[in-house]
Amino acid sequence: MTLPTPSPPRPRVVETQWSAVDAYIIDHLIPPDPALEAALAANQEAALPSIDVAPNQGKFLHILARLARATRILEIGTLGGYSTIWLARALPPNGALTTLEFSPDHARVARANIDRAGLSHLVTILVGPALESLPRLDAPFDLIFIDADKRNNPNYLEWALKLSHPGSLIVVDNVVRDGAILSARDPSPDVHGIRQFFEALAREPRVTATALQTVGQKGWDGLAILMVN
Ligand code: SAH
Ligand code: DHB
Ligand code: MG
Repeated sequence: MTLPTPSPPRPRVVETQWSAVDAYIIDHLIPPDPALEAALAANQEAALPSIDVAPNQGKFLHILARLARATRILEIGTLGGYSTIWLARALPPNGALTTLEFSPDHARVARANIDRAGLSHLVTILVGPALESLPRLDAPFDLIFIDADKRNNPNYLEWALKLSHPGSLIVVDNVVRDGAILSARDPSPDVHGIRQFFEALAREPRVTATALQTVGQKGWDGLAILMVN
């Protein structure tokens, strides 16, 4: 019996190109932005992990929110509020964004970043496990961005469906994780949660869903995009 060939190491040179291309895109399409840059600097100062969406992904979320004409946005997973700022900037003056964050430390950094961006009148941060905050929210939201603990993605999907209306957009970050989602035996509960999320989606008649792989500064990952029917 022949042993399976071990997978080759990941091609680092390609990742360098991914980042270089992201830098090119950002350089051309995303002008210097003091509030966003200050947020990333404050995150770094506070030793938050740099797992925010990339600038071009943040702008993509912003465009989606404007396309959806979102006035009420829900975000699950605030970190330092980088994606929050991109999304809140898409809101009209009477809009509102609620963002859920487990860590009081992350929430404190996010609050300062959102203040500095001049968006605190539009944003409410609820601190605690998202599954405890979600039952207290008033539906519906026009756009829901799920970007917290991936092991709870199946639960967040259920909540997003409860808190949406036909036409709402649900966007889920990090659904590829370097391709780890292919492995049914991956020991990570997060990978397991993403796989369960895809399995739930496969039999979910309430949404029209797709997913896109992404490469760039943040490595190889992906976004799922769900439109509520
Ligand atoms: N959306 C952010 C990144 C979020 S990182 C951005 O792109 O800028 C994921 C965040 O989810 C972390 O801050 C983490 O503390 C938070 N988180 C993890 N588990 C959570 C839970 N159960 N409830 C709420 N937030 C959670
Ligand atoms: C992780 C979380 C994220 O939201 C992300 O964009 C990247 C990584 C993480 O928990 O590892
Ligand atoms: Mg993410």
